[in-house]
Amino acid sequence: MKLTYYGHACFLLETKGKKLLFDPFITPNELAAGKVDVDKIEADYILLTHGHQDHVADLEPIAKRTGATLISSFEIVTYYGEKGIQGHPMNLGGKFSFDFGTVKYVAAVHSSVLPDGTYAANPGGFVIWNEEGCVYLAGDTALTMDMKLIPMTCPKLTAAVLPIGDNFTMGYEDAAIAAEFIECGQIIGSHYDTFGWIKIDPEQAKKSFSDKGKELILLPIGDSLNL
Ligand code: NI
Ligand code: MN
Repeated sequence: MKLTYYGHACFLLETKGKKLLFDPFITPNELAAGKVDVDKIEADYILLTHGHQDHVADLEPIAKRTGATLISSFEIVTYYGEKGIQGHPMNLGGKFSFDFGTVKYVAAVHSSVLPDGTYAANPGGFVIWNEEGCVYLAGDTALTMDMKLIPMTCPKLTAAVLPIGDNFTMGYEDAAIAAEFIECGQIIGSHYDTFGWIKIDPEQAKKSFSDKGKELILLPIGDSLNL
């Protein structure tokens, strides 16, 4: 599995010859300017954790250009279906076997509404696994005891993407506890530095994890990591 960071909460996971794009928000992100060419992003699937603007901004043009299948809540898939985007609806607690592996749509503690005010159901996160590994992308969420269900119900995690920016999601101190809850040693940080309210001290963030025997990886925008 190969993970590429496109800034904020946007990642590309490549596995078994398929490209899975998460929460596309690139063109409004000044930190991604000159580092990511949104017109060159390829995707077979787009996985959307919830409907907020800082997750959906580039969804429509990428989905229409690539023909990617949207995987998200029933309500979000229905909304984009009316715009001509094909999708696979899920709801919390459910899993499904796709051609690249299994996806489980898991709980997140946050809010969710589409930019035009359309109800977007509960927010979620995704656990994706196949014989190459198992990764958890938590989406926007508070630290929640529900995270303890992941190691009980999914294969051993290879890596996890957790929000660490605080204010709108858990901060890095809580994310380090989340890493314990999900029993995962390799954490990739998400949802930080994009705007003023979520700026972090990277050394403090890494120390919060190393104090617990965990590794926090802060990927430069545009960089990839083999999991
Ligand atoms: Ni959000
Ligand atoms: Mn967000």
